[in-house]
Amino acid sequence: MRFALSVILLQLISLPLCPAQNGAFYINGNGNGNGEHYNSVKLHIETQKDRLFAFRGENVTLTCHYRYEPAVNMTRKVRVKWSKLNMDFSKESDVIVAIGLRHRSFGEFRGRVYLQQNEEGEASLVITDVRLEDYGKYKCEVIDGLEDESSIVELELRGVVFPYQPHHGRYQLNFHDAKQACEEQDAMIASFEQLFQAWEDGLDWCNAGWLMDGSVQYPITLPRGPCGGKGNSAGVRTYGQRHKNLHRYDVFCFASTLKGKLYFLRHPMKFNFDEAVKACRDDGGEIAKVGQLYAAWKFLKFDRCEAGWVADGSVRYPIAFPRPKCGPSEPGVRSFGFPRRENGKFGVYCFTMS
Ligand SMILES: *[C@@H]1O[C@H](CO)[C@@H](O)[C@H](O)[C@H]1NC(C)=O
Ligand SMILES: *[C@@H]1O[C@H](CO)[C@@H](O)[C@H](O)[C@H]1NC(C)=O
Repeated sequence: MRFALSVILLQLISLPLCPAQNGAFYINGNGNGNGEHYNSVKLHIETQKDRLFAFRGENVTLTCHYRYEPAVNMTRKVRVKWSKLNMDFSKESDVIVAIGLRHRSFGEFRGRVYLQQNEEGEASLVITDVRLEDYGKYKCEVIDGLEDESSIVELELRGVVFPYQPHHGRYQLNFHDAKQACEEQDAMIASFEQLFQAWEDGLDWCNAGWLMDGSVQYPITLPRGPCGGKGNSAGVRTYGQRHKNLHRYDVFCFASTLKGKLYFLRHPMKFNFDEAVKACRDDGGEIAKVGQLYAAWKFLKFDRCEAGWVADGSVRYPIAFPRPKCGPSEPGVRSFGFPRRENGKFGVYCFTMS
């Protein structure tokens, strides 16, 4: 009797007083009903520490393991939940929830994710056919009775950041237009981390563009007068958060690898824009999007020193191996801007999924 009372006291004291540090502390009744034997067991959860890099279209595994300390018999039925943290951290969206062998996936992830439980205590998430918008932070959460522990994994995509300006000129896009403009070019609005990485890799661009978090920034590697001042050091310069409806800028887009094939279509007569669109279609493809051209240039070293139409009505050409008469001395996708669409002087870049 005295023993049972002390157990109750212990429970009263322990539950509210022990904050979850790495592991949650809780009382584990081990089930013989008379309260004779109680353990204190901590649930620990571990995800991989390093950020995970994936290409679009790949399958990736976000590893997550849980264990008890001291070890207990793992026949316990836990609930595993993976969710994706939204950019503003205010909300999470469910990815998958599993109890034992039963599981359910949600939204964009439906039918595209599963849990990998090859070993005891594993609760890894496999995402198949990774999409651009899968980029971000994921939370692995294990729920065992009262206890609920979680840990975060970050999924990054390998890709290329490019500054984008639509046909109607500089600083025309509010945040929502900016997001859409990237999506129309088979890309997505870049995150700050992606732009920062691009800046480290040498991107220098003197027009400010929207980023995913609603801020407006631009990357400078060679400080100069009109781009934030010569006196300032190199860096990613920021205008901070801007009003998503009222303020207008360019945008930084992010494109990743392609499954299809990009190629240049030549024709002795050359094309105006409408003819170019038709020529790709007649050839079994589609006129290439800007993001596809950047991805082919970056990942396949696609190189062609001939100007061609692309889907947004701009004329560009990709140079992976700089040489005389093919633009500046650095590799890049060169742009002639947006010529008049009736202008019949160019070839065309086409894209096909086959
Ligand atoms: C990804 O996983 C799916 C389903 O398990 C499989 O059918 C597909 O071949 C895998 N894709 C790659 C690129 O490994
Ligand atoms: C778990 O329980 C089973 C059945 O009671 C027992 O045979 C096994 O040895 C236990 N495992 C551990 C790690 O305690």
